[in-house]
Amino acid sequence: MKSLNWVLLGLVLCTSSAAFANVELAKAKNCLACHSVDKKIVGPAFKDVAKKYAGDASAEAKLIAKVIKGGSGNWGAAAMPPNSQVSEADVKVLVKWVLSQK
Ligand code: HEC
Repeated sequence: MKSLNWVLLGLVLCTSSAAFANVELAKAKNCLACHSVDKKIVGPAFKDVAKKYAGDASAEAKLIAKVIKGGSGNWGAAAMPPNSQVSEADVKVLVKWVLSQK
């Protein structure tokens, strides 16, 4: 029983530190200059992005391309500048994290 508790504690710590790492990555890559998880800044709230694309299986690939190249039109007139300094692997992690917001 005691060891089960340690396993559960480990799981809780792992999942929360993964979420924390993603926020740190978003901060380090400057995404949070224009976005926040739950309110619109220059760009849409990441929760709203997740809601808009819920159930769209092709969203992940589309959004990875959009974040790297930038663009406008899906949320209004403001454009996202290209984030071509961010590696595709990092963009993938970030887009998966954005789409997992609730
Ligand atoms: C200079 C401001 C700015 C920065 C920096 C920025 N964004 Fe954006 N982002 C925007 C704007 C504005 C939009 C809305 C574009 C539109 O209407 O199509 C947007 C849209 C998005 C979308 C939704 C795209 C769509 O077509 O629905 C995602 C996902 C996203 N950003 C992720 C990121 C990530 C990840 C980063 C960091 C690597 C980032 N953004 C950095 C301004 C920014």
